[in-house]
Amino acid sequence: MKHLISPLDLSVDELDKVLDLANDIEKNPDKYREACKYKKLATLFYEPSTRTRLSFETAMLNLGGNVIGFSEASSSSAAKGESVSDTIRVISCYADICAMRHPKEGAPYVASTKSSIPIINAGDGGHQHPTQTLTDLLTIRSLKGHLGNLTIGLCGDLKFGRTVHSLIESLVRYENVSFVLISPKELRVPDYIRENVLKANNIPFKEVEKLEDVISDLEILYMTRVQRERFFSEEEYIKMKDYYILNADKMKLARQDMIVMHPLPRVNEISVEVDDDPRAVYFKQAQYGVYVRMALILTLLNINVK
Ligand code: CP
Repeated sequence: MKHLISPLDLSVDELDKVLDLANDIEKNPDKYREACKYKKLATLFYEPSTRTRLSFETAMLNLGGNVIGFSEASSSSAAKGESVSDTIRVISCYADICAMRHPKEGAPYVASTKSSIPIINAGDGGHQHPTQTLTDLLTIRSLKGHLGNLTIGLCGDLKFGRTVHSLIESLVRYENVSFVLISPKELRVPDYIRENVLKANNIPFKEVEKLEDVISDLEILYMTRVQRERFFSEEEYIKMKDYYILNADKMKLARQDMIVMHPLPRVNEISVEVDDDPRAVYFKQAQYGVYVRMALILTLLNINVK
């Protein structure tokens, strides 16, 4: 049995197979309509979510399966003090596979050590968000045609933005990828990403503060929200929240073939006027999230559809 706790739990070959399967699901959805008949997905969400929870649920329903779960800790027995370890031992009796989001870093990993069903990390604190990374990789590969030979700018809250950490860890496995890390100094990537991932793998990267200075160099601009829920004080958040706003004027400086991605939800960091620009792909990205989660569920349940 395999879990997905970190994006590195899938080798590059395994990842390619999941993305190929997601592309086939996109082209031939009917072929997969009953692939998970009688199977159950448990969605255990101890933190708010729109896309991840509902795209997982849509994915399982599209595969002909069923869904159980909760969308907030207060409606589960966590509110009475039950541990994640005990909860997952019980959920293992009810469901075939589980997607878990938790505010504590490492909680899905702890669950995986006690589980008899595959556990998928659907976001743990400011740490990792591997299925967002699968979504991002499928988006990049589908729209740019490849995962190597790219200059990608990551902009905003690179400290607390877990999607950024997972994406960097995954993309360094491909040839000739360079990063432009655009953030205020207070929100730079954590040291372990800079030292153990970027420098340790000799990956070209630079850290800058002004988006306008580098936007014309980028093939992909990955915008992120300032993660209000991870700040120690509201004052600190307010100082940072509107540091970057991508608008039509800034888009004029960008290449015609640059794509703008965002894991969503968006707050103010992309002006709505950018939504109509054909280079803005963040809503398409959310659609890719359903295909790739369908592919992941099939892979972890070891279900082959001919
Ligand atoms: N991208 C993402 O994780 O969105 P949600 O928080 O809405 O699930």
